Parts: sequence; C-alpha cells; structure tokens
Amino acid sequence: MTLLPIAHSPVKLEAIFCVQAVETTLGAILTARASAGKPKIRKLEGHFHGMHDCLWYNRAAGLGETRTDGTIAPVPDSEGIPSALADLILVAPFNNLGAFDRIVRSHRDELAAVIMEPIWYNQGCIPSDPESVREVRRISAQNGIILIFDEVLSALRMCRGGGQEYYCVMPDLCTLAKALGVVYPSQPCAVVTRSCQC
Ligand SMILES: Cc1ncc(COP(=O)(O)O)c(C=O)c1O
Repeated sequence: MTLLPIAHSPVKLEAIFCVQAVETTLGAILTARASAGKPKIRKLEGHFHGMHDCLWYNRAAGLGETRTDGTIAPVPDSEGIPSALADLILVAPFNNLGAFDRIVRSHRDELAAVIMEPIWYNQGCIPSDPESVREVRRISAQNGIILIFDEVLSALRMCRGGGQEYYCVMPDLCTLAKALGVVYPSQPCAVVTRSCQC
C-alpha cells in the first residue's frame, strides 16, 4: 500500500486513496496490522465499517453472548465469512470502559487496533462518552494498540474536524471516504502518522 504525503498540514499526514469507503476501513486495518505486527482487531458492537470479513460482525446489538474477557461472541453478518477468522475479531460493548480494560489486559499482545465510529451514526446519532474516548486513546497508546476513527459518517458533521475535534482526541488512523467524496473522485483514508508507520 502506498501512503501519499499530504501537503500544507501542520502535522505529518499521509493518506491512502481508495475508490470505496469499504476499502478505506480495510486499508486502515491492514496498515494497523502491518504497523503493530499483531493480528487482532477490536470493534464495537453495532458499529458498521463496510462489508468485508475483517469487520463485518455484530451489526446489531444483542446478537452474541458476553464473555469473561469483556468481549461479546462474534456473529458474522453474512454467510461465507470463514469461522477461522472469528479469532481475529474482538467485539466489545459501546461506551463500556470496564470491558475495554479487560479486553486489553487479556489480548494486548495480539491486539493491533481498535476501531470505532466516534459518534455512532449507524444507530442514529449516539455520541461516545467523552471520558471513554480519552481513556481508549490513553490505554491504546500505552499498549501499542493503534486507534482508528471511522469518520465516514462523522467527518465534517459535528464540526469541521469531525469526531477528532469534537472529543479533542487524535487517532492514529482515520477513514474519511464518502465524507469527502463530493470533493474528491477517490476517497482518502487519512493516516495520521504518530505511531503508525509501515
Ligand atoms: C461508518 C461507515 N464506515 C464504512 C462504510 C462503508 O461504506 P461503503 O459500503 O459505501 O463502501 C459505511 C457505510 O455506510 C459506514 O457507515
């Protein structure tokens, strides 16, 4: 994957340009795994990031059982997703810092990234708890876990800086895609390069 530098940015920014939004979240996952050198991804129950088999699990809440490590049993959203892949996805409850803590303690050595819609637009418009977002940022950085904001729906909505500005939290990677699609013919998965370098 080629990261293209973005000119005139106050911080070092690079981007992967894709055609579809679904490719930006896949690109973010592959970048995170390559950068962290770990395989697993934590996603939130009910959050939607496109129809690919890294992340298309538990589209609705309440599908899987809660487990002692803080995760919810992954339930694929389509037939044809191999059961062998279920080991790579950790589904977690939304706005539940206690569960996040347990997941990190149990899986930190294998956990490459956490991905979230900072504002849960796929369920209407449900904001994340601000303290949780800041804690997820802090705990991820401490444990070598890459934080991905999927801002395909939240970019330019709450404010110009999307969820990042709204919560004053800088992710390592963010996906923009359709949010900028009206301006650009291809859709950027912007890569905020703090910890993330392939
Ligand atoms: C937050 C979010 N991320 C990613 C996607 C994937 O977009 P698409 O299926 O258009 O490629 C969607 C689709 O609506 C979305 O809501």
